[in-house]
Amino acid sequence: MELRAECLKALATNDLNDKLNHVKAIYEFFTSRRVTIDSKADIHHTSHIPGAPSKPNIVPPRLVEKRSTSTQQGKLIFIHALAHIEFSAINLALDIIWRFKNLPEQFYFDWIQVAYEEQTHFNLLNDYLKKFGLSYGSFNVHNSLWEMAERTHHDLIHRLALIPRTMEARGLDVTPPIIEKFKQQKDDEIASILQIIYEEEIRHVSIGNIWYRWACESQKLDPHETYKSLLKKYDIELNYGKLNKEARYKAGFLKEELI
Ligand SMILES: [Fe+2]
Ligand SMILES: [Fe+2]
Repeated sequence: MELRAECLKALATNDLNDKLNHVKAIYEFFTSRRVTIDSKADIHHTSHIPGAPSKPNIVPPRLVEKRSTSTQQGKLIFIHALAHIEFSAINLALDIIWRFKNLPEQFYFDWIQVAYEEQTHFNLLNDYLKKFGLSYGSFNVHNSLWEMAERTHHDLIHRLALIPRTMEARGLDVTPPIIEKFKQQKDDEIASILQIIYEEEIRHVSIGNIWYRWACESQKLDPHETYKSLLKKYDIELNYGKLNKEARYKAGFLKEELI
């Protein structure tokens, strides 16, 4: 089994359970050293990526059902939206592995670990939905996370700046108050699921930071200045007042990046 080719196969898989099982199998083979890595191979995809089940329907953001943390229905729509983020995150980790070549072995190791953890996050949320007779596919979703992956497909620095350092890092900012809200509602189950995800996401963002700085250094680019210009290029504004600085420091952001 070769890691990068196998990740592309898992990415292109439409069947949900096949995709989840494939990610688990790649990770288990990888940790027992039964996977090789061909970091030099030029790999191309022949089928549509990302593979996805026929449901959920992907719609423009304005057509997504209304989420809320204060009604039961709104809350389930919200949890479903989080499950879709995790589904996309599995695809994003698989994508960075097959797409970008000539990188150190540790790069591929870090991202297959992320793919595996995203798969566990997805299952935690989907299992929660199943207790209410729902599952992934019950509501509509929008696809802005994968769209950002497409916009940054040509450049590893762009990808790392915009996906882990921007979109995943936003998750660190917004999750703690949501956990608090669910604790107040005495839904300890979903609060502890989100706590697990939150803690593992700090590590994902940190992996993003480590490789972003590594990639900038190898091209003799200043990480902070490069990030600022990429935010402009992709038309993204950070709300510096609302950053979760404690989590972001843990994830490897520097003081000057958070003011
Ligand atoms: Fe996740
Ligand atoms: Fe993640």
